[in-house]
Amino acid sequence: MVVITTAIMLINSCGGTGKNNAANEADTLKGLKDFYKDYFPIGVAVAPNSLEGAQAELIKEHFNSLTPENTMKPGPIHPEENRYFWDDADKIVDFAQANGMKVRGHTLCWHSQTGAWMFKDSQGNQVTKEIALARLKEHITQVVTRYKGKVYAWDVLNEAIVDDEDTAKIYRETPWYKICGEEYIADIYQWAHEADPNAVLFYNDYNTEDPVKRDKIYYMLKKLLDAGVPVNAVGLQGHWNITNPTEQNLRDAIDKFSSLGLKVQITELDVSIYTSRSDTVNMGFTPEREKKQIDLYKMAFKMFREKKDVITGVTFWNVYDGRSWLNRGNRKAYPLLFDENLKPKKAYWEVVKF
Ligand code: G3I
Repeated sequence: MVVITTAIMLINSCGGTGKNNAANEADTLKGLKDFYKDYFPIGVAVAPNSLEGAQAELIKEHFNSLTPENTMKPGPIHPEENRYFWDDADKIVDFAQANGMKVRGHTLCWHSQTGAWMFKDSQGNQVTKEIALARLKEHITQVVTRYKGKVYAWDVLNEAIVDDEDTAKIYRETPWYKICGEEYIADIYQWAHEADPNAVLFYNDYNTEDPVKRDKIYYMLKKLLDAGVPVNAVGLQGHWNITNPTEQNLRDAIDKFSSLGLKVQITELDVSIYTSRSDTVNMGFTPEREKKQIDLYKMAFKMFREKKDVITGVTFWNVYDGRSWLNRGNRKAYPLLFDENLKPKKAYWEVVKF
């Protein structure tokens, strides 16, 4: 009886739709990272509490790289001059190590989420360039050394280029830039490299597909490379929406940065249903918006696969639609590949269909 049943199952699984069903069942056992194993690691930004319960299981199934969403930023990890807070970042690194995942460090130098103490003396006055640079060197050396051999890549500098149509304005007027001028940029790559010569050192930014901003980033990177600064790669954050970027602009950005000999990663991917940051009304995940989101994800992943020689990683910014930095109260952005119940969306099935 058992033999007969098995034989019937075999006959079914060998013909027509039976074969497709068998293949589909096998696919549901594979995670995103497995579909992309011959291409690049698939990462996700996490908080320590993402690493528990159902989210932890989903992360283990689908991702093989983690980025701490906030816990390695200067403010959280170095809240006071002589105090580092390692616990939350350590939890993420330990989870990654226990599960054979890579870790991208984010970020060593940024104008946001950085303790105000870095720029002030004990009287509350702005510090000199020498003191600011000494503090930044100490910060980078401590953080990179602690995770040496565990964090394979660092976003050394985050968002230092200004969003301005004026092509003459290159750098954002951050406290670092105002106090130190542009030389701090070469220094921070050098310090990170000295602390871990094997780490892949990134410049990371958003709106990298916008031709004006892209060219400013290119200008800065070329200048650094010409001066022998150890910058190795560019992070296109990928905070996109259902109408942006165009295929052409995305292709041009990847080609332009990689023409410098730099590797490229998509470091913070999400595709919002909102086309403007100022949209505040909850618009809903209508079939039309869902279709546009699917089209954008399909276009982007097809290009990433085509360019796998230069694309060395794709990281999503958060795990599932229920918890995204883009959700504001009632306004939900539905930007990821897993829905509010942690289930793969239609866009997921399109991204793994190739
Ligand atoms: O941890 C505090 C908590 O103690 C406090 O009670 C609470 C009250 O608001 O705030 C918590 O901090 C928040 C933190 O996220 C952790 O949840 C901050 O207010 C909030 O501003 C912060 O937002 C983060 C944002 O960066 C800050 O600029 C987002 O989670 C994070 O996703 C986002 O990530 C950035 C990348 O680093 C760089 N690229 C853009 C990207 C999206 O903005």
